[in-house]
Amino acid sequence: MTSQTVRTVTLQEMKRKGRKITMLTAYDYPMALLVDRAGIDLILVGDSGGMTVLGYETTIPVTMDEMLMMTKAVTRAVKRSMVIADMPFMSYEAEPAEAVRNAGRFVKEGLAHAVKVERGWPSLPCVRAIVDAGIPVMGHVGLTPQTAVLQEGLKVQGRGRDDARRILEDAMALEKAGAFAIVLEAIPGVLARVITKRLTIPTIGIGAGPDCDGQVLVIHDLLGLFDRFVPKFTKQYADLAKVISDAVSRFREEVIECRFPDAAHTYSIDQETERALLDL
Ligand code: KIV
Repeated sequence: MTSQTVRTVTLQEMKRKGRKITMLTAYDYPMALLVDRAGIDLILVGDSGGMTVLGYETTIPVTMDEMLMMTKAVTRAVKRSMVIADMPFMSYEAEPAEAVRNAGRFVKEGLAHAVKVERGWPSLPCVRAIVDAGIPVMGHVGLTPQTAVLQEGLKVQGRGRDDARRILEDAMALEKAGAFAIVLEAIPGVLARVITKRLTIPTIGIGAGPDCDGQVLVIHDLLGLFDRFVPKFTKQYADLAKVISDAVSRFREEVIECRFPDAAHTYSIDQETERALLDL
């Protein structure tokens, strides 16, 4: 692990040298602190936080203000990682000028280093406009949850020849529009390999096989903290839900049984003052 800060040029260099890029989501200060300290290159303040920490059914209702609050908490913690703020549904689709204003809020108020937008060709005008305004943009193709939940649902994409070609073309168009990297979500590994070879910018896979330039997971999935929807491609590296439940249950039992707080967790005073107090 290096202490050098990660920015878009770092990612280009990593792709050129064949060094894998790591990315995780984070939505609050303590988690961002741990992820940054662990040497993860990119931290995505994903709109998935709308589900994992705010409890929405989907990412659709997530607002700019909610995303900004999470982004500010994350950037306060981070020293080395590059922080990318996810632009929530309907914060960039209506017109490029609005997309630029909202991307600007993430950088100016949230202190993010870049933003991410979902989808291919429909997002191109806003990607161009945000890049022209000087803000780095990450693309996101394949399964794009913001619109997928309104249409076919959260399903693997690019299995058919036409669909695969469309995803490849979208990725190439995003690169041409100025995106610095692209998330490939839930597509066959071979399609991700082809896209990764074709593009000069890095690809970051989630459910896209091992041949992407980097990999991303939602941190609550990795830690076993979110079981409402567990896609095939997530890998659980810890069972924090159990650790937390056990700790909470032990606290409850100890309070009910008058075992907490014990002497070790209680402030004392000198005996004379204690006696005087008890005499009161
Ligand atoms: O919001 C999110 O967490 C994402 C990742 C799945 C890439 O977009």
